[in-house]
Amino acid sequence: MQRLMSNTQLMLGFSDIARKFILPSSEVAIDSFFPEEEADRLAKIESYNKHLFRPNTYLHKWWARRSGVTFRYILKQLSTDPDQRNFYVPGGLEGLTILDPMMGGATTLHEAIRLGANVIGYDVDPIPVLQARATLTNIDVQEKQVIFNEFLKKMNQELSHHFDTSCPYCHEKSDMQFLLYGLRRRINGNEAVFVDSFILRAETTGENKTIHDFYPSLEIKRGNRSWSLIDKDEAKKRGANNKHSELLEIPFMDRYVPLVMVGKCARHNQYFKAPDQNDLQKIDNAVSKVAKLTFLADNDFIVPQGPKSSDLLARGVTNYLNLFSPRQLIYLSEAKRCIEETAPEHRLWLALLISTSLEFNSMLCGYKGVDQRRPGAIRHVFSHHAYSFPWTALENNPVFKAKTSGTLLNLFDKRILKAGIWAHAPVERRWTGAKWDKVIIDGELDLGHECESLDEFTGKTHSFIIKQNDSSMMPLPDKSIDYVVTDPPYFDNVQYSDLSHFFRCWLRWFLPDQADWHYQPLLSAVAECQENESKFGNVLAKIWQECHRLLIKPHGRLIFTYHHWRAAAWSQLTISLASSRFRLMNNYIVCSENPISVHIRSLHALKHDAILVLKPCDSDDERRWKEPEKLQTNDSEAFCRGCAQYLGWILEQNFNQAEINHLWKDFIGSD
Ligand SMILES: C[S@@+](CC[C@H](N)C(=O)[O-])C[C@H]1O[C@@H](n2cnc3c(N)ncnc32)[C@H](O)[C@@H]1O
Ligand SMILES: [Zn+2]
Repeated sequence: MQRLMSNTQLMLGFSDIARKFILPSSEVAIDSFFPEEEADRLAKIESYNKHLFRPNTYLHKWWARRSGVTFRYILKQLSTDPDQRNFYVPGGLEGLTILDPMMGGATTLHEAIRLGANVIGYDVDPIPVLQARATLTNIDVQEKQVIFNEFLKKMNQELSHHFDTSCPYCHEKSDMQFLLYGLRRRINGNEAVFVDSFILRAETTGENKTIHDFYPSLEIKRGNRSWSLIDKDEAKKRGANNKHSELLEIPFMDRYVPLVMVGKCARHNQYFKAPDQNDLQKIDNAVSKVAKLTFLADNDFIVPQGPKSSDLLARGVTNYLNLFSPRQLIYLSEAKRCIEETAPEHRLWLALLISTSLEFNSMLCGYKGVDQRRPGAIRHVFSHHAYSFPWTALENNPVFKAKTSGTLLNLFDKRILKAGIWAHAPVERRWTGAKWDKVIIDGELDLGHECESLDEFTGKTHSFIIKQNDSSMMPLPDKSIDYVVTDPPYFDNVQYSDLSHFFRCWLRWFLPDQADWHYQPLLSAVAECQENESKFGNVLAKIWQECHRLLIKPHGRLIFTYHHWRAAAWSQLTISLASSRFRLMNNYIVCSENPISVHIRSLHALKHDAILVLKPCDSDDERRWKEPEKLQTNDSEAFCRGCAQYLGWILEQNFNQAEINHLWKDFIGSD
């Protein structure tokens, strides 16, 4: 801090320094105040559309993203200048160094850099690292547009013809938008083709487009084979809904039979049709072409053992390549070639764009034909924080010439163009008393410049260091960080490291030199199973011990969000904080997930996050917490508040691990 002051003196007049870089004192505003109500209201509306609120943080799929609004509110309270704690005032953290040791989607980094801080972000997984670097690096959006146009032109040349089809009304050439497949399964010793629903599109007029329009007798013929068609209701009636009826002995892709094609004609607009001979021939051509691609033999695509990967293995998917249709594999192979032909500084964002497009371009994509709000939309791969295996699979056309779900045009527009524009003029919502207005925060930028080491931060603002690192050990000197602001993993529920293999195998292929791909999922602080719960506490304890070492005293704080219903999750957290000698200064409760989110129990949704403000222990710390009375378990907010207070109380006592486990079980009840 001292060195920082003297160097910045060279660049700024003294009064500027006094105004801008006021040194934090032991009094930290967030110890005693946080605008809970205001933050809660804004986080609530953000939770329905987080990606629209902060498009520049959402280039690539990542799980369990926290609310950007909440983190902006937290970081704002860390400003030494009371006027700059106002949410709508730009900046306020110039001269401070903020660390997120488990950055994930990099919410902390984006929010802190906007406020002028220098930031450090670590994650064990390469995907968060690459995404954070790509989204915080300033590359002109017009330049990206030129690069993308060139990329798309080449991709179109190689791919469009694979998706050529003809309109069933005027027979003019047109583009396939997507193709729906049914799944061959065994039923009573025979094979049938299963679909999730016969309804293809529920129109508002009440008239439905259905599979009967194309297969009136619910029978489908391909070559010399034929199958009857069965939907969910029929399957239920016949008691066939169990996995023993999967055709595990044949490759995953071969289990799918093309049923209905959706295309767009210049005259007749969107149409549905049964694939004709030409369409089926296109699929055969793609099969022959893929047979000549070399990466099929690559060991890097083998599915590993893992808590969620086991769902793939149980279905006989042993290689990630199995999850893609021949056309999708051609898409990936062409993308690699085109990425390699692109200038090195543009490969990162392009590769991330292709990788994230796989969420909408694999045979695990489903179809929401009957969805009332968005009929005819793609259900992407991770819509349930896990793999799901729809009976109706949707093969998308990534080079379709419209901004529909999962097309390159759409993804570039939203994840690169709109994100880049937003990064230069970040927008927040403000309640006028009657409605939410959009306000540009003048002078803020959601971008920074990358540094390699802490020395390079000297005299700078808006700088970042991003590294792939197991934060049990951080390559930073003692007392170098003002605030740690983070969000630890979700104890047991979201298996990021395992799920992200789905993308990682492709990113490694596209960007072999840009990360350490020999990443060990076991370093991740997630309990994979009940027997392994203490792993979470052990990894976190090491990370918190490092944070303790790094924080500048006396103002340094460790601040993070947390929520969980289970006693084990709270006791593991408590053990980790007790062993790293932290005390709770305060806690604030704000709205967290959108209550319709699927990974929170629907009956019993935990809709709040506790913001925990902790300080490294001192010998003369006063006791702040009384043992709370009985916990309310039927109200999400009261539950989070009660748990946070209990945590505060335990950290001020001297309990051993067994006692801590026992106390939490008594307090919450066993799970
Ligand atoms: C809940 S996510 C963070 C989400 C983030 N706050 C956001 O809003 O997007 C937690 C992250 O911690 C990372 N992580 C888990 N164990 C780690 C470790 N030992 N070192 C570094 N990162 C780790 C995971 O890979 C994951 O990306
Ligand atoms: Zn037509």
